[in-house]
Amino acid sequence: MDYEKLIDEQITYIKKTVGKEKAINALSGGVDSSLVTVLGHRALGGRLRTVFVDNALMRKGEPQRVVEAFASLGITVELVDAKEEFLTALAGLTDPEEKRQAVTDTFYSKVFGRLVKESGAKFLMHGTILTDIEETVDGIKRQHNILTQLGIDTEKAYGYSVLEPLKTLRKDDVREVARLVGLPTEIAQRIPFPGPALATRIIGEVTLDRLETVSAATAIVEEELADSGAFQYLAVLLSDCATGIRNKKREFGQIIVIRCIESTDARTASVTKLPWNKLNRISERITQIKGVNRCLYDLTPKPPATIEYV
Ligand code: XMP
Repeated sequence: MDYEKLIDEQITYIKKTVGKEKAINALSGGVDSSLVTVLGHRALGGRLRTVFVDNALMRKGEPQRVVEAFASLGITVELVDAKEEFLTALAGLTDPEEKRQAVTDTFYSKVFGRLVKESGAKFLMHGTILTDIEETVDGIKRQHNILTQLGIDTEKAYGYSVLEPLKTLRKDDVREVARLVGLPTEIAQRIPFPGPALATRIIGEVTLDRLETVSAATAIVEEELADSGAFQYLAVLLSDCATGIRNKKREFGQIIVIRCIESTDARTASVTKLPWNKLNRISERITQIKGVNRCLYDLTPKPPATIEYV
């Protein structure tokens, strides 16, 4: 693939499609939305408004980190606090698809719909990549960012059109293009993080307490596995509890699953053969999190498993 040509073509496409109108995009800090942000700003300059929606489901410190990283690239990112709205929409939900749907609806029709209306933008730019489209069309999983491919008329349903400049690219292509447009390595090589964020890593209800637990586990796993070279690593909070002992007392504690995988494009994945002492260390640290007394390592490739749990 000729990446330089693709960059030029996409910038031209964005300029032509948006014309004299304004566009808006949501940045999550992942490589896909970061690349869209840079391409969009190159094409439209100040006519692209970039927002970071804090949905309460991000990793610790993520919103501030992302805003600062882009400030140093000369791109202003607006931080929008929508924590309450997302938590309210997710309250009481345990079914995986209902949880994903709640995140989709809150994001597009509530928070984003509102931002788009007040900004006067007619276009939303989105970092959908080829794998998202294939898996959604195949019915494997409904990715949250894939309304158009599902035949949902975004203009009618939400009042704006969606531009997807990365939809012919796979993850490895996106990273290469991100590097070429000058995104720093920490962003270009950043491990994938799903749109519905930590909601995909909590089995059962998403509550503030449970988010606290899974984000503490996520921080440990990301720190311990940063130098693993793996494609993706994550922590998941199960809904079951298990008996354990702490301070000589019986404790019915929570269970965290660690997942670390090798892949090139997330369509298939194999499990990383982590050294035993690394796994031991992670387990020791994870079981120091309040209320967690078990840590499991997931040995399942994709397929039959998917990478995320929800
Ligand atoms: P699965 O769990 O389907 O994940 O094997 C494949 C890759 O996609 C990421 N993922 C998502 N990314 N929105 C996204 O932008 C989503 O809804 C979503 N669900 C999963 C996942 O982290 C993995 O890299």
